[in-house]
Amino acid sequence: MKEKNILVFGGSGQIGRNLIRKLTQKNHRVTAVTRNLHKKGYILKTQGNPGYIDIVEKNIFDEKHLAEIIKNKDICINLVGILFEKKNNTFNNIHINFPSILAKICKENNLEQFIHISALGIDSAKDSKYAESKLKGENEIKKNFQEATIIRPSIVYSVDDNFSTNLMSLINNLPFFPVYYNGETKFMPIHCSDLTEIILKIIEEKICSNIIECVGPDEINFKEILITLMKLIDKKKYIIPFPLPIAKMTAKFFEFFPNPLLTIDQLNLLKYDNVLSGNLKSNIDINYVCELKFENEVKKYCHMWKEHGEYSKEKIN
Ligand SMILES: NC(=O)c1ccc[n+]([C@@H]2O[C@H](COP(=O)([O-])OP(=O)(O)OC[C@H]3O[C@@H](n4cnc5c(N)ncnc54)[C@H](OP(=O)(O)O)[C@@H]3O)[C@@H](O)[C@H]2O)c1
Repeated sequence: MKEKNILVFGGSGQIGRNLIRKLTQKNHRVTAVTRNLHKKGYILKTQGNPGYIDIVEKNIFDEKHLAEIIKNKDICINLVGILFEKKNNTFNNIHINFPSILAKICKENNLEQFIHISALGIDSAKDSKYAESKLKGENEIKKNFQEATIIRPSIVYSVDDNFSTNLMSLINNLPFFPVYYNGETKFMPIHCSDLTEIILKIIEEKICSNIIECVGPDEINFKEILITLMKLIDKKKYIIPFPLPIAKMTAKFFEFFPNPLLTIDQLNLLKYDNVLSGNLKSNIDINYVCELKFENEVKKYCHMWKEHGEYSKEKIN
């Protein structure tokens, strides 16, 4: 396949870094956009060989600048997303307004492909602002760039995630582990590397005009995830189901913090299973079956949370 000029938004995140490494290994030229070159520049710079990666600092809402960097690109990939709102970083701005503008400018500049990362389960999570905004964002994209490919992953994990790593830190630090909805919410965690292979496949096979749900091989509920992690790091804590009113109070309290552990909106989202809908195409339909299993993969990096590991609570005498 001919090498492409690929513009990536949100490239400094977990999925973005893994993806840029793979794109540049395949000789594609990547332009990564960040809000903060000083903070994210060195992270991005090391994801590709010199000559294969350009980094630009831009305000993603500046349409004039967007048009400048989009022209002459072949493909645009949008990985920008947030889990909670902060000042102007609202769900409306990040998940609806930005992808809508981006898709419009990409279409005006005749890009070959527009690939957008949305999220699994957003059709059913009616009372989550996060889900509602992701869904509206998808609709805006489809209006502005009909051939766009939208990817809906279940929870994405790797050594660079904010999921398995945060849970192992919490297991280390909490005397017991509170769970909501009895820990029965189901997930199909997908390894970051599998997800980025799927994105590569979408590029290489020029898969367009699709919504693709992306899931890993395990269907596992939240309580089972905790039990797996506890087993992997040899730390046993009691798992205690929290009644919803108490859960809501704790979430309200956490919302005062700059990076809340849990928000009311996330609590609402947690109510809904995060599994294949059955109505849409999935990675299996495009002939990519994920084989990386949650327990096997976390086993490779969990040692840092085990006794005497870097993030373990015990002190070494
Ligand atoms: N991780 C998961 O489990 C998961 C599951 C389903 C869907 N997704 C979706 O997949 C996408 C990527 O996820 P991820 O886990 O890689 O995310 P991440 O690690 O949190 O990174 C998010 C990226 O968004 C950018 N960003 C955030 N606010 C921004 C703003 N106001 N202006 C410009 N850029 C902004 C950041 O770029 P800079 O700081 O460099 O500007 C960062 O690189 C997101 O859309 C997310 O919703 C993730």
